[in-house]
Amino acid sequence: KTESSLSITVVGASGDLAKKKIFPALFALFYEDCLPENFTVFGYARTKMTDEELRNMISQTLTCRIDKRENCDDKMDRFLKRCFYHSGQYDSGEHFAELDCKLKEKEEGRLSKRLFYLSIPPNIFVDVVRCASTRASSKNGWTRVIVEKPFGRDSESSGELTRCLKQYLAEDQIFRIDHYLGKELVENLSVLRFSNLVFEPLWSRDYIRNVQFIFSEDFGTEGRGGYFDNYGIIRDIMQNHLLQILALFAMETPVSLDAEDIRNEKVKVLRSMRPLQLENVVVGQYKGHSKSGKTYPAYTDDPTVPKNSLTPTFAAAALFIDNARWDGVPFLMKAGKALHTKRAEIRVQFRHVPGNLFKRNFGTDLDKATNELVLRVQPDEAIYLKINNKVPGLGMRLDRSDLNLLYRARYLREIPDAYERLLLDAIEGERRLFIRSDELDAAWALFTPLLKELEEKKIAPELYPYGSRGPVGSHYLAAKHNVRWGDLS
Ligand code: BG6
Repeated sequence: KTESSLSITVVGASGDLAKKKIFPALFALFYEDCLPENFTVFGYARTKMTDEELRNMISQTLTCRIDKRENCDDKMDRFLKRCFYHSGQYDSGEHFAELDCKLKEKEEGRLSKRLFYLSIPPNIFVDVVRCASTRASSKNGWTRVIVEKPFGRDSESSGELTRCLKQYLAEDQIFRIDHYLGKELVENLSVLRFSNLVFEPLWSRDYIRNVQFIFSEDFGTEGRGGYFDNYGIIRDIMQNHLLQILALFAMETPVSLDAEDIRNEKVKVLRSMRPLQLENVVVGQYKGHSKSGKTYPAYTDDPTVPKNSLTPTFAAAALFIDNARWDGVPFLMKAGKALHTKRAEIRVQFRHVPGNLFKRNFGTDLDKATNELVLRVQPDEAIYLKINNKVPGLGMRLDRSDLNLLYRARYLREIPDAYERLLLDAIEGERRLFIRSDELDAAWALFTPLLKELEEKKIAPELYPYGSRGPVGSHYLAAKHNVRWGDLS
């Protein structure tokens, strides 16, 4: 008999994130036999629903992405039988006490491990944590809570949220998720750096000219304008997803792969950075646009967005790490919605070859001859290195070529969704990919002065057409730092 029992309570079970990501991720873990023998999934939300209705709702979004040939329906049924629902208010201790009774019933006296996933708006985080921790926490095992951004809007509100959460939970019970850290290529970053001799020795200002972190989506804020307008792209993508990748990219070699060792190094990078300055930032907002008979809306066409909103849907920024390894190297970030393509990538542009013997083969533009390493996080995961190569033949003509590792060609296995990895880690108590509170503080310290200045000075974003490559200002910003965006050249 297995001695323990795991329950995962998804608070905010009828929300979009729960339906699209969390339940499907839990099913994928079940499918792959990663969940323990005794587990139950509880949905918790205000809507009145029966267990059966919850199962119906969840089943709409479950897919057998792993192996379509196997008897997936059977697995789905077995998974759904473990899913239950409890309807309650988010601030009602009593309702959480009822949940506690139901959880106990399923646990049948075994050691209880309780994971709460807060898939709810931030203004009710603290209420839920208070109720869950005082009325529905495990008495003999562990209780962990996964929270998802936004963690406040600036240093003060984030600090306040942390203080409130810590009234009820210890730091090691709080799992702050940044789903970009669960993406395959982001996890691979450390493997690439620290287990290949050819990269790490070059990983510094001596060989790297600049690094670019690029996020673009080819759709706008459709349906999420109300949430988005209060945050904007800098808080939505840069301060968390891109900055987290930057910290992993730039950190010193950790003592070990332990969560604390890695997070110690990440936080050092964040603390070595200069807070962003307005002169190193460009903001944009998409405007309506017609193309080939199709009309695309402006950001402010969204009925939940104020007509005069100055909220950026695009931003580009140059950041600097003032330490010995990275002194003077521009780290550029670019993030935008409603652009021409959907993509997330890291680009590393290397320096020129000193005294390049083949200089004349490149004409006057020596930048075109430098190596570039690209980690394409999505879509179509790949790692490629741009090199110069001789075009076969009798002459001496050089060509730009790629050493290309395309995941779908090399690995036949499907790549797990970020939420699968992160949920499994939280269940196993692995904190490596979760954000520690000091990391969060350091991240906000970098962005808060800029965000305040943008708001106080009412900086108008540069408008760019829906589906375009974004504001031209981002090119000027890059050029100011002697950089050319790799995705556009
Ligand atoms: C979320 C942002 O964190 O990440 C969204 O709030 C964004 O605005 C999403 O669309 C992108 O995630 P992914 O995994 O689809 O690239």
